[in-house]
Amino acid sequence: MKQKEKINIAVIGCGYWGPNLIRNFNQISSCSMSMCCDLIESKLDRMRKLYPSIRTTKNYMEILNDPEIDAVAIATPVLTHFDLGKQSILHGKHVLMEKPMVSSSSQCLELIRLSEEQQKVLMVGHTFEYAAAVNKIKEIIESGETGEILYITSTRVNLGLFQPDINVVMDLAPHDISIIIYILGMEPNSVNAQGKSHYQTEIEDVASITLNFHNGTIAFIHNSWLDPNKIRRTTIVGSKKMLVYDDVNPQEKIKIYDKGVEAPSYYNTFGEFQFSYRYGDIYSPRLEDYEPLHKEAKHFLECIRENKKPISDGYSGLRVISVLEAANKSLKNSGKAVPISKYRKMVIDSSPLFTLPAQQAQ
Ligand SMILES: NC(=O)c1ccc[n+]([C@@H]2O[C@H](COP(=O)([O-])OP(=O)(O)OC[C@H]3O[C@@H](n4cnc5c(N)ncnc54)[C@H](O)[C@@H]3O)[C@@H](O)[C@H]2O)c1
Repeated sequence: MKQKEKINIAVIGCGYWGPNLIRNFNQISSCSMSMCCDLIESKLDRMRKLYPSIRTTKNYMEILNDPEIDAVAIATPVLTHFDLGKQSILHGKHVLMEKPMVSSSSQCLELIRLSEEQQKVLMVGHTFEYAAAVNKIKEIIESGETGEILYITSTRVNLGLFQPDINVVMDLAPHDISIIIYILGMEPNSVNAQGKSHYQTEIEDVASITLNFHNGTIAFIHNSWLDPNKIRRTTIVGSKKMLVYDDVNPQEKIKIYDKGVEAPSYYNTFGEFQFSYRYGDIYSPRLEDYEPLHKEAKHFLECIRENKKPISDGYSGLRVISVLEAANKSLKNSGKAVPISKYRKMVIDSSPLFTLPAQQAQ
């Protein structure tokens, strides 16, 4: 883009999440938080009271037709993402789309192609990929400290909020899936999922998803809108060390356990067969203190200014949507494994994050 003093941003959707985007963009001096849009007047009224200089509109076309607006962040319900994203790119805007990016991988591909053709930044709001804790975990795994990752368990549950148009998988699992793919640097080969709708027809409110990776690593995700407690906990079990990431713990989000088990390499009799358990130290690494969304917002602006590919680019969105799609297919087929192969070659070819061997790309 031509170098302007400030990048002009607009946010579409001022419900729960949109105001967080507005607050963060408003705090960044290299951009101007210029406009926001919602269909509901009371939401716009609230934004006008908080930020008197921001223009508001009920019609997003006013934003798209404004040549002064450089970029749009979309924080509306997922079923509206594709149309809003497509129109934004076609109107020459850089786009930050909230998770889940869109409703299907074919929609992801269309937006990726369009953004490449129009040379616009397309980024997905996989906020946890910008969190200090998640980046620390990635660093620890990549350093080899945990050894080979045997399995991961990720629990993201709370009471509500029931969504009328998407199930708990589409609502909560995008974070777990994006974190797991990001820290492991690979996508699963196949997915199984089971779940149940207790209160709304065909809209599951509890689900359990299994991601199977080519190297034998397995990840279990548990999501629910029907749980008495808010839990955001990921346990990573490695062959050398174990790690627990508790996102609701304000002080010690990550704990690393020097614990493990070893089977005897050789034994003659049943009496000699003894596992040995290691109970070593537990430590909690210091983490940088910042709001992940602030880092995400700054990264979006930096990608626009420097014409860079975002960490959570359209392909990152595609990887997560492919897994969600497979999980939903499995949910409707009593948990039958669904392979993720369709887009793998293209995904591997296009992203530096991937480390799968070449034959996996077939
Ligand atoms: N990254 C994160 O951590 C995170 C957290 C929460 C929500 N989200 C995502 O943000 C998105 C929004 O979620 P939410 O919880 O804020 O939903 P919400 O229902 O609270 O808000 C959505 C808003 O969009 C408005 N809207 C709908 N269609 C519109 C249109 N055509 N034009 C203008 N406004 C329109 C609605 O009136 C509503 O105010 C979802 O995709 C959700 O998954 C992301």
